[in-house]
Amino acid sequence: MAESFYGVITMDGPAGVGKSTLARRLASELGIAYLDTGAMYRTLGLRLGAGAADLDEERLRARCRAYRFSLESCSEGGTPQLFCNGELVGAEIRTERAGRLASLVARLPVLREELQRSQRALGEGSSLVAEGRDMGTKVFPLARHKFFLDARPEVRAQRRYLELEAKGTLNGATMEDILRGIEERDAQDRGRAVDPLRPAADAVIVDTSDLDLDGVLQIILHAVRAKGNIEKEKSASTVCARACAAFSMAARDGLLSKEGAAALESAREDGLAAARAVAARHGISGDVRLTCRVDGDSLVADAVTENGPLAGTLVLAAVQTALASLADFLFEGADICASLDRGRCGN
Ligand code: DC
Repeated sequence: MAESFYGVITMDGPAGVGKSTLARRLASELGIAYLDTGAMYRTLGLRLGAGAADLDEERLRARCRAYRFSLESCSEGGTPQLFCNGELVGAEIRTERAGRLASLVARLPVLREELQRSQRALGEGSSLVAEGRDMGTKVFPLARHKFFLDARPEVRAQRRYLELEAKGTLNGATMEDILRGIEERDAQDRGRAVDPLRPAADAVIVDTSDLDLDGVLQIILHAVRAKGNIEKEKSASTVCARACAAFSMAARDGLLSKEGAAALESAREDGLAAARAVAARHGISGDVRLTCRVDGDSLVADAVTENGPLAGTLVLAAVQTALASLADFLFEGADICASLDRGRCGN
């Protein structure tokens, strides 16, 4: 029996709606990983500090790239946890200060780009529940399952109040204070210039105002199961495309340099953006995986997606755009040949 493969399940929504608890429970019910992207913003907020906002683009990018995120199990078969540079991301990020710094750095486009890139890498080819503000709209626009949780601000404030009261950490805050805080964060998240909080057009919107946690979880589980999972064995019905371009030895040296590696990565991103644009234009979903590499004296881009309407167009758009973007970097105007394969993908 094939292991269940759900792909990426996105879970977005405003502060205090209960996303984290739900996303964690959903991941555990389905036996897949949970990716808390707020924790990534909190970690960089704490590590880079408020000064991050004063760095120029290049220095900020370099500082962000010094932190590598991974999902690793602490014990054999255990639930994967978020690590940063090999260290477990722990309770230190759950403070008010970390939340404020996260919110500050989350407005910086370069930092967002860098975190989004590592979020996509973590989701690539795996099943996970990705929780945040821009998962369905920006990071995983082709995710198979998308959810947006919402609830009236008063309900969210009351839940937060009861939670803090139970933990004994109200610190004199009244319900009105908490409601004001929630409304301020809503305005900040929804009004942000980059990647504002909003539901993806194809997200299932769940209003949790009058539901308890189990009620919401049942709705989501039902929706995921109704759509079915993608069994790994079904890779036999994937659609693959490969594009190749030959180049000179000089170009090869360039590609193996640091700039070359960055050009390969940005070509890969261009390719995925092209595939996503095609998907968005035609209102279809389906994730595309894309790799770009140097193989001998050739550039090879491989794209894979599930079989389905326009699958061929999607993967071809991905590989052709990726190689065209690299050909620009090489200044050689290399000829690109692309081919499509409906069936099992070779290496
Ligand atoms: O969900 P949280 O409170 O841990 O998120 C911390 C901050 O990070 C919050 O201000 C919103 C921001 N964030 C974001 O901009 N995009 C995400 N995908 C996740 C969080």
